[in-house]
Amino acid sequence: MFVNSKSEKLKESPDSLRPQGWDNYIGQERIKKHLRIIIEAAKRRNETPDHILFYGPPGLGKTTISHIIAQETGSNLRSTTGPVIEKSGDLVALLTNLNEGDILFIDECHRINRFVEEYLYSAMEDFKINLILGKGPMAKTIDIKIPHFTLIGATTRIDMISSPLRSRFGSILQLNYYSQEEIERIIERSAQILGIKITKEAKSQIAKRSRFTPRIANKLLKRVRDFSQVEDDEESIDEKIAVKALEFLEVDNLGLEPSDRKIIETIINKFNGGPAGLQALSAATSEEKNAILEIYEPYLMQMGLIKRTNKGRAATKLAYEHLNLKWKNKEG
Ligand code: ADE
Repeated sequence: MFVNSKSEKLKESPDSLRPQGWDNYIGQERIKKHLRIIIEAAKRRNETPDHILFYGPPGLGKTTISHIIAQETGSNLRSTTGPVIEKSGDLVALLTNLNEGDILFIDECHRINRFVEEYLYSAMEDFKINLILGKGPMAKTIDIKIPHFTLIGATTRIDMISSPLRSRFGSILQLNYYSQEEIERIIERSAQILGIKITKEAKSQIAKRSRFTPRIANKLLKRVRDFSQVEDDEESIDEKIAVKALEFLEVDNLGLEPSDRKIIETIINKFNGGPAGLQALSAATSEEKNAILEIYEPYLMQMGLIKRTNKGRAATKLAYEHLNLKWKNKEG
């Protein structure tokens, strides 16, 4: 059930570019400050911190921050994901196996089965599980006490978290895209850990195309390194080889990949610029609805390339310009 049962002490190895403490965690300043206060206050009261829900697009640090919280509070982090908690028994096993003060990290917590989710309510609120045994008139309820724990939920779909669950989190924190400058610092740090020599301009090119997302920035840095090792004998990665590699990878200067461009092109060409409904857009692009909602759309909206109206998604003037297409002036 648990993906990893003990809190792994994160080491700064090339395998893990994840920062291991607040000091080397770049960006999300407001969230860091908020969490530092929550942790410090809980420590002073000698209590476990209240439950925390993180939401935002993938790759922005929800898991990394949860590991840091465990590190900072000196707790074990037990990690699982929503879809694997299929039956109430799975959740009961998970909760009864916790130790006092543990952190239970549930990724994709919008995908917990609705019936199972109900058992979480009393666990989060009163640290007990109200178990119903049997059916009909003979049914009995028993209360099982569980240790005090902190639930950290992570989701890319805050809209899918039911309000009873939402209301049981003490803090609900949104992770936002990083700035260009923060991503450049993250690339700088990763390059140092990986022993990669890279110029300022090359870093800036990777950052620009990384969707302001650390996971993507680190992935692109590694791919650019591969490319430069094979195609270039220069000692350090410079702008020219970085751009060449990124173009080869089909990541354009706004960080769009072929599937992003396909979505915009489909809205423009098949839906006359939009609005296009989710279902229709998904069918026309062969992209899953969830991928459109969780991955593509947040970034395309952030970049001002599409907008959401109550009738669906529409391409903006900027989207036409980016694809070198003539803008058909509609309502804006
Ligand atoms: N690697 C991934 N995310 C990071 C962050 N926020 N700070 C430093 N390194 C990172």
